[in-house]
Amino acid sequence: MSTAHIGKPIRRIDGRAKVTGEAKYAAEYATPDLAHGWVVSSPIARGKITAIDASEALKLPGVIQVFSHENRPKMAWFDSSYRDQIAPPGSPFRPLYDAEVHFNAQPVALVVASSPELARYASTLVRIEYKARTHATELAANLESARTPKEREGIKPPPKARGHADRALAAAPVKVDVEYEVPVEHHNPMETFATTVVRDEDGSFTVYDKTQGVQNVRDYLCNALGFKADEIRVITAFVGGAFGSGLRPQYQVFLAAMAAKELQRSVRVVLTRQQMFSLGHRPTTRQRVALGASADGALRAVIHEATAETSRHEDYSEEVVNWSGLLYRCDDARFEHKVVPLDLPTPCDMRAPGAVWGVFALESAMDELAVALGTDPVELRLRNYAEEDQNDGKPFTSKELRECYRRAAGRFGWARRDPTPRSMRRGSTLIGWGMAGGAWESMQQEAAASARLTVDGRLTVSSATEDIGTGTYTVMTQIAAELLGLPLEDVTFKLGDSALPQAPVEGGSFTVASVGSAIKAACGAVGETLLKLARKVEGAPLGKPTPDEVEFAEGRIRLKADPSRSVAIAEAMRAGGVDVIAQEAAAGPKQDKYSRHAHSAIFAEVEVDEDFGTVRVTRVVTAIAGGRIINPRTARSQVMGGIVWGIGSALHEASVLDHRFGRFMTHNLADYHVPVQADVEEIEVIFVDERDELVNPLGAKGLGEIGVVGVAAAVANAVHHATGRRVRSLPITLDKLL
Ligand code: MOS
Repeated sequence: MSTAHIGKPIRRIDGRAKVTGEAKYAAEYATPDLAHGWVVSSPIARGKITAIDASEALKLPGVIQVFSHENRPKMAWFDSSYRDQIAPPGSPFRPLYDAEVHFNAQPVALVVASSPELARYASTLVRIEYKARTHATELAANLESARTPKEREGIKPPPKARGHADRALAAAPVKVDVEYEVPVEHHNPMETFATTVVRDEDGSFTVYDKTQGVQNVRDYLCNALGFKADEIRVITAFVGGAFGSGLRPQYQVFLAAMAAKELQRSVRVVLTRQQMFSLGHRPTTRQRVALGASADGALRAVIHEATAETSRHEDYSEEVVNWSGLLYRCDDARFEHKVVPLDLPTPCDMRAPGAVWGVFALESAMDELAVALGTDPVELRLRNYAEEDQNDGKPFTSKELRECYRRAAGRFGWARRDPTPRSMRRGSTLIGWGMAGGAWESMQQEAAASARLTVDGRLTVSSATEDIGTGTYTVMTQIAAELLGLPLEDVTFKLGDSALPQAPVEGGSFTVASVGSAIKAACGAVGETLLKLARKVEGAPLGKPTPDEVEFAEGRIRLKADPSRSVAIAEAMRAGGVDVIAQEAAAGPKQDKYSRHAHSAIFAEVEVDEDFGTVRVTRVVTAIAGGRIINPRTARSQVMGGIVWGIGSALHEASVLDHRFGRFMTHNLADYHVPVQADVEEIEVIFVDERDELVNPLGAKGLGEIGVVGVAAAVANAVHHATGRRVRSLPITLDKLL
């Protein structure tokens, strides 16, 4: 199919605004008489507040109020009123609700003052006494309380067992039965959570919030704080990274909105980097993977068991073990996922939640099995290639994973690999080559969009989604421009406003599929209207074609069969006597006969210094099968970001708790290491050709998450190849290699 815009590497439409500083983030909206809230955080992990004395703070001129559970305004009582769209089962945390402390650094008071500096200083004068209870924050020490999590909407429970996995494992001639440990990771977006609530002249409130779901936040504030739906509007024009941390409303938006409503004035609350470690996180998880194979490498048994942390108040769970039933064919398989409640904030989704940890374990174990068998790791994967999704007993809409292995291996030079560990060197440096594969579900959610075309040929399309840095502004503009055959500069896509047509949170890699399909429906409706109007053009050059028989290109409607017969869009509108065509339409998932997934193959090279145990990732080649690529430039950025994060998971990232206090001690970017430019060398991203007419109306599978899946395993496997050491606990720091 020839296209004008789809598939083209268009530069980010919001790029100029971002690099010039014109793009405004939640904490940057100015308004007269803005009050500033400073959050006071609990130093204990569990217990009760026994006394609060804010009198010293309140004496300072400019301090407006100190909110705590003792003087808080009325707020909802039922759990259901605090349960946002993304909330797991349980009792959501309620800021300032009562004297209970559920986790260290929980917000316990909000100081509101005329400036942030004053609010911060005044917060040091608030005296709070606590009665601490014994807390538990260590997963390994509390495994006896592991239990099956309550089912979470949208999260598939572990696949049903098939065959007799334990028996098959016992009988398998070659086996690997190992445990993997992964730490807590925090999202660490550049932009910390922030909200500016502006009280408008008519008494309504505009909430500028950093979030991945403007309507989720609006509904939450209405339910929890009693705002009326027409009294509050949530705006998120730009997001400085979120990665899942913004899927649920965070406590700063609750506190800012609460204070603004109570004080009837504008209020801003910004969290510090330290406070960013009191929100959700990727949960530490222990996994057992047992693989049995016949001597020729056919998988005979797969067992994958995971135990992860959750909070004491909510049952957060992820799809950790499911990938092991999906990626390879095996008739005897068993899966289990358990959670251990701890006195910590509820974990939350972080880029490819579940898959990052689960595929790390599975793909590490597959590498161990390849070594045990003396088989090439790619060969082992091809030997056990899953032609259908055995978890659900469904065929795939498409699956070009074989092509991913082939293209990435070819580009990487895998054929030149000597499989013997420690066999490849550059001077005193050990070289290792490792690989892994990955998958991520290509979900679609119900979404709506509106399209408004004016006679001057300008099109405005809108939906209440967000652009969390993924390129949503750009790709939605491309999709709309393509559908109605308009130049990009005549198309505007509006997002990040709760008043726009309904959209899900931006996450799960489902925005292109969900919102893009809604745009397709809305633009399709505009096109049909245009087609009717075109009949009124003198001489009716198009005749009476069906919508399928025409195409929109270069500002014209033309017959596919005879492009010389065409009508200009403006001509059709003028003939019909209309200045504006406005349509709203919704789209949702249609098929459930197929399994839909994006796939990846990752090949990584590491250099390990033998004396110091330091590891560098010098080269990564990834091939992605992600269906139709709407914009190769933003798509590549997404995948590169995922790979960098995968390097971080493998080598750098870990949130360390001091269990005596139940507190994350690495709560800054000096102690929490993310990969920096110097940690990232060559990265190459290949998109394999994958036509998919079934997955959704756009044929695009979503790329926000697939890029990170499997990367940590590819790096860990490369470290094994370099050193002969199998490190089964992340991150692979030098102490584990010496
Ligand atoms: Mo993603 S973890 O759904 O932002």
